[in-house]
Amino acid sequence: MKHLIPEFEALKQRLPLEGLNGVLLLPCLHRIQQERGYIHDEDIAFLADYLAMPAIQIIEALSFYTMLRRAPIGRWHLQLCHNLPCALCGSDNLFDYLHERLGIRPGETTPDGRFTLSAVECLGCCGTAPVMMINETYHEQLTLESLEALLKELN
Ligand code: FES
Repeated sequence: MKHLIPEFEALKQRLPLEGLNGVLLLPCLHRIQQERGYIHDEDIAFLADYLAMPAIQIIEALSFYTMLRRAPIGRWHLQLCHNLPCALCGSDNLFDYLHERLGIRPGETTPDGRFTLSAVECLGCCGTAPVMMINETYHEQLTLESLEALLKELN
């Protein structure tokens, strides 16, 4: 990922103070994930060296932020909220429907590599529950019908 260094250096220029390499960690991780699809061990080693920080600090960040991945996933990442407001509005039925329709439970990927399903914490749209992200896009007030319509659009 050394080819991303010019982008990272440009980001560094926007920092208000020098010596805050740790501030760059999350933007760098996001950019690498955008490029590779996940964060590989070699990316951790690269960033530890580039940002002059212990690798364990990077691993800690990776284990804390669920949007950062350590392994490849399917082309379509279905992130369905399972917290209380979404559960009260039927997210359990949506999980069951996805299992029936795609044969996967949270944490699994379809054998063809098209879909990965994750059960995620509150997506911040409780007022329009139940909510699911498909890659970077929010889908709110989901029903079985609207979920099926969305699945049909994804190839
Ligand atoms: S509980 Fe599901 S979006 Fe907040």
